[in-house]
This record gives sequence, C-alpha cells and structure tokens, in this order.
Amino acid sequence: MSREAAAGYHDLWQQSVAVHTRSAFWLQAAQAIDWTLPPTVAMEERSPGAWRWFPDGELNTSYNALDRHVLAGRGDQTAVIYDSAMSGTRVRLSYRELLGRVERFAGVLRANDVGQGDRVIVYLPMIPEAIVAMLACARIGAIHSVVFGGFAASELAVRIDDARPTVIVTASGGLEPGRAVEYLPLVERALARSKGSVRTVIVRDREMIPGCAADYADTGDVAWLDWAHEENEAVPAAPVSLRSEDPLYILYTSGTTGSPKGIVRDNGGHAVALAWSMANIYNIKPGDVFWAASDVGWVVGHSYIVYAPLLSGATTVIYEGKPVGTPDAGAFWRVVEDYRVSVLFTAPTAIRAIRRVDPDLVELARHDISSLHGLFLAGERLDPETYHWANDGLHCPVVDHWWQTETGWAIAANPRGLADIPTKPGSATFPVPGYDIVILDSKGKPVKRTGTDGNIAIRLPLPPGTLLGVWGSEDRYQSAYLSAFPGFYATGDSGHFDDDGYLYVMGRTDDVINVAGHRLSTGSLEEVLTLHPAVAECAVLGVHDPLKGQRAAGFVTLKAGATIDHDTLAAELIALVRDHVGPVAAFRDVTILDRLPKTRSGKILRKTIRQIVDGEPYTVPPTIEDPTVLDALKQAVHGVRPHP
Ligand code: COA
Ligand code: AMP
Repeated sequence: MSREAAAGYHDLWQQSVAVHTRSAFWLQAAQAIDWTLPPTVAMEERSPGAWRWFPDGELNTSYNALDRHVLAGRGDQTAVIYDSAMSGTRVRLSYRELLGRVERFAGVLRANDVGQGDRVIVYLPMIPEAIVAMLACARIGAIHSVVFGGFAASELAVRIDDARPTVIVTASGGLEPGRAVEYLPLVERALARSKGSVRTVIVRDREMIPGCAADYADTGDVAWLDWAHEENEAVPAAPVSLRSEDPLYILYTSGTTGSPKGIVRDNGGHAVALAWSMANIYNIKPGDVFWAASDVGWVVGHSYIVYAPLLSGATTVIYEGKPVGTPDAGAFWRVVEDYRVSVLFTAPTAIRAIRRVDPDLVELARHDISSLHGLFLAGERLDPETYHWANDGLHCPVVDHWWQTETGWAIAANPRGLADIPTKPGSATFPVPGYDIVILDSKGKPVKRTGTDGNIAIRLPLPPGTLLGVWGSEDRYQSAYLSAFPGFYATGDSGHFDDDGYLYVMGRTDDVINVAGHRLSTGSLEEVLTLHPAVAECAVLGVHDPLKGQRAAGFVTLKAGATIDHDTLAAELIALVRDHVGPVAAFRDVTILDRLPKTRSGKILRKTIRQIVDGEPYTVPPTIEDPTVLDALKQAVHGVRPHP
C-alpha cells in the first residue's frame, strides 16, 4: 500500500471515531442526504450505551431514495432491474416509475389504516413489489419487517406476535428450483397460530406460477385484498417528515436463544451511513449498476438491494435465481454482462457453488464482465482458497468484508472508494470509519499481542446506521450486546489483528451458525428436535461443509423405551425442522447416540463433538464424564452421510 493511501485512510478513520472530531465528520457525511429539518447535532447518548444519531434532524427515507432523484432530473434513469432467471422475466423501472408505484402503494397502506409507527410484515419473493412495499412503508412512517421466504409458518408467526403488524404484504407464489413456493397457505397457518394483530393481507397475484393463482377469501377478522386492484384505486401518498431516530424497520435475526431478536433501524443514521458506504466502500456513483445477489429478507438485501443503491441514485438489480442451475454456472456473469454491473455483492458460498460446477470458469469465457470493478463478499469468512480462485479468475478486485444484521453495513472492509489498499487473503482488511474495533480477552481486557484471537468488540458509540435496539426489549439489547464488556458492543465474533492492522474474523463465540450465508441459531433447532416424542436429549452444532461453509448437524439420544427405528426417526426429525424452521435450515444430518458426551457437571461437550465430526485434532477434556462416549461418537459419525 502506498504510504499516502494508508495515511489517507488512517486520518479519516481517526476523525470518524475521535471524540473531538467525530461529530463534525458525521455531520459532514449527513450532507449527502436531503433533510426536511437538517441536523445540527450528530449524536446523543439517550441511555447507557444507547446512542441516537442526528437527534434534531428530520427526513424521509423514501423521498431520499426516489423523489429527490426525479426532482434532480434523473427520473428516466433505471432505478430497478428485475431479472428472474426462474421465469425469464426482465423488467426495468425508472426512478419516475418506481416513485409512482411507491406513492400508490403507500396510498394503499394508508387506505388500510396504516399510519406512522404501525408495523407491516412483508413476506415476498424476490420481485420488485418487495422494494415497492418497503419504500411505501418508509414513505408514511410505517415500520416494515421483511420475513425471508424460506422460513416456515411458525417462524412467521413468531415474528407476527413480536412485531404485532396490522397488515401483511405477500404474494401468491415464489419460485425455487424445481418447485413453486406457495406463500398463502403459510400465511394462513401463521395467522392461525398468532395472536391476532393482523387485520389485512394484501396479495400480489402471481398466477403465472403453476399452482399459485391467488385463491383466498376473507377469514375471521382478516380481509384479503388483491394488490393490483388496490393499487388501481389508490390515492398517491406524499412522504411524511420523520425524526431521524424514528424506526424505519425491524429485521429479525437469530440469537443464542430460540426466539429471534428484532433489530431496529432508524431513518437518519441509516440513510447517512448507507450513502457514505456506497461512495467510500463500494466506490459507486449515481448511475452505476450495483447488484447484491442476496435476498430482500436478509440485511444485505435491505441495505444493498433496496436502500443504499437508491439513496445514492444508482441502479439496483433484483435477481430471482441462483448462482448455479438457473440455468447454469454462468448465470451471474450473464447478469453482469447484460446490465453492465459495476459491483457485485454476494456470499462466498455462491462463489463456491459456481466453482464446484465450473472450476475452470468455462462459462465466464462466454460473457463480457469488463464492467465489473469489484466483487464484494460477506455473510461468512471468505476462505483463502475461494479468494484466490475468484481473484485469479475474474480479474477484478475481490473484497471480503465483515458485518452483521445488527450493524446494517460493514464493520471491516477494504474501502475501495477511499484508498487503494492491498487485500490479504483471509482478512476483512481494516475497520471501517466509525468502528473502533478492539480485541478483548475473556476478562474484557484488550489482548496484548497482535495475532492473538479474542472477542471482537466495538467501542461505543457504534456509528450511524447500526441498531437502535431490540424491538420491544431494552433489557435484551443490554444483555445481548452491552453487558459482556462494559463500554463496548460485543459482536459475538472472534478474531485478531495482524501486525499491519488487518482484521481476521475467524468465527462465532456463541451458538449462532452460518449455513450458506444464512444465520441460524442452534438453540432454536434444538428446541424443535426436542418436540419429537422419542427424543430425550439433543445437541445441534455447526459442522464444516465444503459448499455452505457450515451445516447444522443434530445429535440425539432416545427416551428410555423408545422403539422407533433410527432411519425413521432421522427422517421425522428432518421433516420436523423443515416444518418448524423452514427449508432454509437445510437440516439433513442426524446422528443417534446412546449418550451424548458430557462433563461431570452435565454440560454437553459441543466443541469436542464438532472437532470429532470435522476430523480435527482434539484433547479429551479432563472434566469428561465418560471418555468411552467419544469412541462411540467417532464410530457413529464415521461414514455419517447427509440424508437424501
Ligand atoms: N423461499 C423458499 N425457499 C427457499 C428460499 C426462499 N426465498 N431460499 C431458499 N429456499 C430453500 C431452497 O429451495 C432449499 O430448499 P430444498 O431443501 O427444497 O432444496 C433450501 O431453502 C436451502 O436453500 P439454500 O441454502 O439456498 O441452498 P441451495 O442448495 O438451494 O443453494 C446456494 C445453495 C449456495 C446456491 C445458495 O445458498 C445461494 O445462492 N446462496 C447465496 C448466499 C446468499 O444469498 N446469502 C445471503 C446473505 S449475503
Ligand atoms: P448476519 O447477521 O446474518 O449478516 O450474520 C452475521 C454474522 O455472519 C457475523 O457475526 C459473522 O459471524 C458472519 N460474517 C458475516 N460476514 C463475515 C465475514 N466477512 N467474515 C467472517 N464472518 C462473517
């Protein structure tokens, strides 16, 4: 790295976190946003550890994402490209068209008594209506909560009961390879299980999907409405002025317990942080095409399919398809070529999927991807092997960057818009301006030597755009993130800095696992397994998977007297998880044991089990209750095969 590049980055980072300069730094960044009431104050600590950004500012996020670009004369520029590799549909919506649709759908919500602060659940596949629904909520100050389509009805019900929405926006069908996803039966089941806050379900009919024509009738107190009909009747709604700290959305994510945490995001800090990130991390200018190949149901989709590209006047791509099999391993390169994509953002697992099918990048040779100036990867650590393969094959910079649902944008990255910093394989490069990262030992003291793994913590305050708290529970915010290391936000990840200040994020310190970039709680999977009448005890662990990074593996013992044969039990447990959590859990490994390895005090030896399954060296813990249980485990997992 040139000395100037390093100095430039370090100066800026210093300004963004130092007590005397950070306010000026972020107020300057706030100028990229149009405020109805410009902020004069950058930040304020409301309660211990809970900061609010731009507390006296007012704005509307949908206005910033749409109206202001149209007013600036860019109404004809493409805002959204919808490319469905599943159905062959391709649609472009200009900023003017998208604004028109959002105004009308905001009017539909208003007509259904949705007002500021009301919650709306968005349960939609990867279609432009997902963007329309989110921005329509933002326009009238309603709080959206998008639920990923791969979750089962009970997960949807849990979110309904926590967020208490009055309206659900959904579609009659989605497309997954080889099958149609019928959303309406899932919504009906979720409504039957939930406590009854929902008054209206608005359905986007996708009758073109076989078996998914919208077929519903009003039930109980719930009215079922047709999106297209309502949109035709709608009175367009103008954007309302909101306080910077008013919630924009709630997004549920897995924690260590079975009940997901509703991460709450504000309007002002979020808009400022995302606009800043587009220019400085991704090096994107208005008019560039930015493609986050994720799903609107995840934080990556919220920030980088919907909000950030539109806040910065770029063009976003919403892609309904997979990296492979729709129809081939050239699908991503085809999209990059067709739309002259500047930056592609996806998860390492997608790149591994392409590599597995097309190791020599034969498909790539059929496409011109010269428009691509960056491949950004997140969701799990970018393993050096995948890094080298992509870097050598694509001839464009490959950037690993680390973040979480809670932060909403990158904590560590190679900020390509700021400086030309060399990448080191296996590292997420440097802390992003705004994040003061410290590696703490188990007692909360900074580790003394570089290269030593510890808990990755962020000194408070967190920068703008990060979580306001956990929906409905101030205590949970404190206990989940702030109490472990007073004065710091505990990320739940472990890792280290090297001598050059590069950060290496190595894994979680808790029971959260990452399956194909999807965050799951092993605790919630265990809760499901114990629902089976034959199961006495169980442990679910994240074990290594060459494609998905990790996969969930379940280890169960039977109740005394249970006579069910093992194959039947395994099949029933797999079906139970699919039914309760959803296909996204991709749960297929079950091992039935006589006993689980435990300490004398009864704690399950999860780490040892994982090491044995992954074939890693391990030491027999001195506190083990019975070492012979490990031999039985080795025998059982030897030849453990995923169930079909
Ligand atoms: N709605 C309904 N079901 C869904 C779904 C959705 N939106 N998304 C996934 N599923 C289902 C899949 O159909 C699959 O079901 P199946 O068991 O019937 O086959 C199951 O959930 C597991 O899906 P997935 O984890 O995606 O595995 P896969 O084998 O279908 O595909 C990859 C593997 C690597 C190709 C895929 O995970 C991928 O493209 N990942 C990209 C990573 C990503 O988007 N990460 C988000 C954070 S950046
Ligand atoms: P999610 O909230 O679903 O985005 O998942 C966040 C978690 O994914 C983090 O806490 C990490 O454990 C993991 N993660 C995301 N990006 C990376 C990365 N670039 N390197 C290592 N781990 C990552």
